[in-house]
This record gives sequence, structure tokens and C-alpha cells, in this order.
Amino acid sequence: MSTTKKQATATTEALKQVTYLASALKAPRVTEAAARLADHARDAGWTHEEYLAAVLDREVAARNASGAQLRIRAAGFAAKKTLEEFDWDAQPAVRQQIAALASGGFLTEARNVVLLGPPGTGKTHLATGLGIAAAHRGHRVLFATATDWVTRLTDAHRAGKLPQELARLRRYGLIIVDEVGYLPFEQDAANLFFQLVSSRYEHASLILTSNLPFSGWGTVFGDQVVAAAMIDRVVHHADVLTLKGASYRLRNRGIDTLPSIKNQNPAD
Ligand SMILES: Nc1ncnc2c1ncn2[C@@H]1O[C@H](COP(=O)(O)OP(=O)(O)O)[C@@H](O)[C@H]1O
Ligand SMILES: [Mg+2]
Repeated sequence: MSTTKKQATATTEALKQVTYLASALKAPRVTEAAARLADHARDAGWTHEEYLAAVLDREVAARNASGAQLRIRAAGFAAKKTLEEFDWDAQPAVRQQIAALASGGFLTEARNVVLLGPPGTGKTHLATGLGIAAAHRGHRVLFATATDWVTRLTDAHRAGKLPQELARLRRYGLIIVDEVGYLPFEQDAANLFFQLVSSRYEHASLILTSNLPFSGWGTVFGDQVVAAAMIDRVVHHADVLTLKGASYRLRNRGIDTLPSIKNQNPAD
């Protein structure tokens, strides 16, 4: 047998073994990457170490991607809006801050994010985009409206399982509470919500969105003291971002002809 033929046979045998070993390791992408990258490695003069790293990288990248997809599906986002889809011209002031948050440091430090601003300015979009970025970084995420969170907590409380539920939720690196302030809470609900905030304080992150400034939260929670105690915990380690301007939903829809907008501009 010629040297090249011998080599080819050895290669085929080695790849067969890789197939077997990869399946034993439950790393199916290794089989495919090992074969596909081998010729490329020879042509490009990769070292053995570089080749091994490239093959393993394919497996890890694929695992991370499928893990992220599972986490995104499990998060329960109302709509899958990403930061890449966000039009920064509409909110230039928060671009830098959101970019910094997207790198995920706030999650490892258990810091919070509060997005305030009028309806349609992109609070839910940005909260969702940060949640998706977190899922890509390996964090478990849950998204729901404030009203939905209160329903969940009330159910757990009624079943006598609130502590267990709060402990379970602490295993999520990020909980998003959308639309604080759209509906006022009952006193009991406000207390449950306070317990959620307390249980995560300095353990795991929250993102809250609200169309009301903090000064309006007392009315939402039906109790100034509970609201103040809660805001205190939320903002102690938090980035508070205020979005401004007109609703993005209404842009290019003759918004400047709407009477409510026109009245705000007496110069017209
Ligand atoms: N700057 C933006 N770039 C792209 N889409 C935006 C922007 N701001 C808002 N939107 C879109 O407009 C709609 C309303 O935004 P949303 O995030 O729900 O606003 P809010 O939660 O502040 O009421 C959504 O479909 C959202 O994707
Ligand atoms: Mg919203």
C-alpha cells in the first residue's frame, strides 16, 4: 500500500472512531465538525491544538444556541423583540446604557433595571431585548406583566406555597415585570409583590417597566409605605432609564395632526 493510501485508510478509521466516541459523549456535532474541518486544518496548516479547539467550539456553540432558544421560549415574552431591531434614532439617549446592560454585567451583580416612560416609547421592547440577550448569555429568564405576576404569587400564596415559589423564582437570573402601574393592585397583591422584590434583593435581577414615575407608584400599590420600601430595594442597585418622546406606534401616522399633541405646542 502506498503512503498516501495508508494515510487515507488511517484517516477513515480515525473518523469512524471519532463518530463512535462523539456519540458516546452525546456530542453529535463533533462527528460532523471533525470530518468537515480536517481538510481545512491540513490546508491552513492548523496545529493539532487549533484543530481540536475548532471542533469542540462547534459543539459548544451549537449547544449554547439551542440552550438559548429553549430559554427564550420558556421566558414567555409577549413578542420576541430584539435589541438589534430597535431604532436608536427614536431613543438616542439610552443607547449607550442599553448596550452596556446587554453585555450582562448587571445580571452577575444582581442589579436591576427600571425602564420608565410614556406608552409606546419602547419599554417592553427594550426589556424583552435585554431578556433575550440574557438568555443568550446563559441566564434563565421569565417575563410577565405585573398583573400576571400578582396572579401567580396570589395562587402560590393561597396554596400555602409562597416561600417555595419565591425560592424557585430566585433560580431565574432575570425576572421581567412589565407594565407596573397599568392597573392598581389590591393591598394583598401589593404585599405579595413586595415579597417578590425583597426575595430577589441582592440575589437576582429584576427589570421593571412603568408608564408612571416613582412618585405615582404609591397609588398603584395602594400604600405609600409599601411603595416606598419597594422602590428603595429596587433602585438601591439599579439603572433607571427614562424613555422620552411620542409613541413609536403612532410615528408617521399623522401624529402631529392629533389634537392632544397640537395643544402641547402653543407656538402652532
Ligand atoms: N425605537 C424603536 N425601534 C423599533 N421599534 C420600536 C421602538 N420603540 C417602540 N417600538 C415598537 O413599537 C411598539 C410599542 O413599543 P413598546 O415597547 O411596546 O412600548 P411601551 O412598552 O413603552 O408601551 C412595539 O411594537 C415596539 O417593538
Ligand atoms: Mg409596554
